[in-house]
Amino acid sequence: MKKPVIAIDGYSSTGKSSISKVIAEKLGLIHLDTGALYRGVTWFALQNCLNEDGSINLDHLFSSFDQIELEFKNDHGELILFLNHIDISKAIRTNEVSDNVSFVAKQKEVRDFLLHSQRSLAEKGGIIMDGRDIGTVVLPNADYKFFLTASIDERTKRRYNELISLGIEADEQQVKENLIERDKIDSEREIAPLKQAEDAIVIDNTHLTKQETIESILSHIQNI
Ligand code: C5P
Repeated sequence: MKKPVIAIDGYSSTGKSSISKVIAEKLGLIHLDTGALYRGVTWFALQNCLNEDGSINLDHLFSSFDQIELEFKNDHGELILFLNHIDISKAIRTNEVSDNVSFVAKQKEVRDFLLHSQRSLAEKGGIIMDGRDIGTVVLPNADYKFFLTASIDERTKRRYNELISLGIEADEQQVKENLIERDKIDSEREIAPLKQAEDAIVIDNTHLTKQETIESILSHIQNI
């Protein structure tokens, strides 16, 4: 039997990636955290494509795509993102990347650059992909689509705890502002905005544990 293709979209810090990872292990699927790809391109831009005033030089970035090789490696179940063979899995979680990623991700050139590799990974089936536009644009024919949401205060708490556990300094108010700002840019952009696919199942997990959200998703997969 062909393994399913599952799309998980939703707001920042709704647990999309960590939930997708567990479901992937349970169902024997590949997991692709597409947000990490956008963060990887942003990290590259911050290292290599800055104007004198510290802003990102988009033309420089667009003409550098052939120098960007993003690759995931599996390390005991953890997906580690490498950029040109350098482990950037921790660097892409910093506040500097979070503050710039939505600006980079709204550029058509960046989205086109990452679209092809996302789609080709799904060709053989057996994948769970999480992001913002998976059910609407990247994999509109996915077998199952979910859209996760939760209150801003709950999401702030989760993101803050994640940063602290990674050893990254964090301020709760700043974390909250970053989430609100990113969601706004992601939802309002012209190309592939963050939105619920019409045929997605919406799960508000404000009052659900990670395990309960996983069980809810699995029950839908088994029911359909
Ligand atoms: O998932 P994560 O919060 O790490 O994503 C970081 C950013 O990458 C999002 O805020 C959004 O700007 C961008 N992104 C996107 N499309 C996706 C995944 C992420 O635009 N499919």
